[in-house]
Amino acid sequence: MNAKKDIITLAIETSCDETSVAVLKNGREVLSNVISSQTDLHKKFGGVVPEVASRKHIESMNAIIQDALDKANITFDDIDNIGVTYGPGLVGALLVGVATAKALAFGKGIPLVGVNHIEGHICANFIEYKDLKPPFVCLVVSGGHTHLVYIKDYGEYEILGKTRDDAAGEAFDKVARALGLGYPGGPEIDKLAKIGDKDAIDFPRVYLDNDSYDFSFSGLKSAVLNYLNNNKQRGVEIKVEDVAASFQQAVIEVLAEKSIMAAKEKGSKIIAIAGGVAANEGLRALLKKRCEEEGLEFKYPSKILCTDNAAMIGCAAYYDFIKGYRADMTLNAVPNLKLGQR
Ligand code: KG4
Ligand code: ZN
Repeated sequence: MNAKKDIITLAIETSCDETSVAVLKNGREVLSNVISSQTDLHKKFGGVVPEVASRKHIESMNAIIQDALDKANITFDDIDNIGVTYGPGLVGALLVGVATAKALAFGKGIPLVGVNHIEGHICANFIEYKDLKPPFVCLVVSGGHTHLVYIKDYGEYEILGKTRDDAAGEAFDKVARALGLGYPGGPEIDKLAKIGDKDAIDFPRVYLDNDSYDFSFSGLKSAVLNYLNNNKQRGVEIKVEDVAASFQQAVIEVLAEKSIMAAKEKGSKIIAIAGGVAANEGLRALLKKRCEEEGLEFKYPSKILCTDNAAMIGCAAYYDFIKGYRADMTLNAVPNLKLGQR
C-alpha cells in the first residue's frame, strides 16, 4: 500500500516591507518561516518607502530562499508547489515576489499558485489551530486592511464589512506618529496602553449604522489629533500613555463588538482574528473576555503569524493547490486585489 505523499509548499511574501519565504508540509505544518523585516530601513522616514522596499526585497530574496530551504532541510526537488502573494500590496514590492516565484516555477517545472495577502492572514489561524475548520467569523485587521469576513469554506469568503476610510493599523500608526512614537506605531501604543488609563479620555466609538459591519477610523484619528492640538495650545500637559490607552480602547471596543454581532448573526461559534493588529494585547484580552461572556470560542494566531510572513501564504496556497487552482506565467502583481477575487 502506498503511503500518501506529503505536499511540500514553498511560499514567498513581499507585499510590503517584510521579505519572507516559508516551507510547509501539507499546508499546516511549518518547516521553516524566514522573515526579514525592513522596519529599521523605513523607520527614519516614518513609514514604508515603496521604492526602497522593492530594492531591499531584490537584495534579500536569494539568501532568504536558501535559508528557508536549509532550515526545512529540503531542496528545490522536494517542492510540490510554489505559492506567492500577488496582491494586495505595493506594486513594486509584489513584483519582486511574483517574478521570483515565476522564475522558480518555470525553471524547475513546479506548479505555481497566486495568493491573496488578506486570505493569507486569515489562514494563519489554520497553522496555529490544527483542528480549526470553516465556517467561522474572522476579523482581519492590519496596516492596510480591516475586514470582517465569514469564512464559509477553505478559500470561500463572504465579506460582511470593511473600513470606509483608514485601516485599523493605519489609525494606530498615524496616532502614534502624532504622539511622537516610533514606526510602526501599533506595538508602541499597545505597550503604552498597558500603563495608561483607558477611561481618561472619552474618544468616539464609531459604530456607523446599527446593523452595519463596516468600520470608520478617520473620525477617531481626527478626534485624537484635535485633543492633542487643543491641549498643546492651552499649555495643558498631555499624558501620552492615557491618550494611547483611551485611543486603543475606542478602536478595540468597536472591533470586538462588531465581531460578536457578526458571529451571532451568522450562527458562528468561533471568532478568529488575523493581521498585524491582531497582535494587540488589548484586543486579544477584550475579545477573549467578550467571547467567554457570549459562549463563543476565540482564536488568535501567535504574534509572529499575525504580522506579515510567508507561512500564512503557504497555507492559503496549499488549499488552492489541492482544489486544482494553478497560475501560469502571465501571473502579475495586482496592487488592489480584493478578497475573493482571482
Ligand atoms: O499585517 P501587517 O504586518 O501588514 C499589513 O498587511 O498591513 O500589519 C502591520 C500593522 C501596522 O499598522 C502595525 O502598527 C500594526 O499592524 N500592529 C499593531 C501591533 N503590532 C502590529 N497594532 C496594534 N497593536 C500591536 N501590537
Ligand atoms: Zn499583512
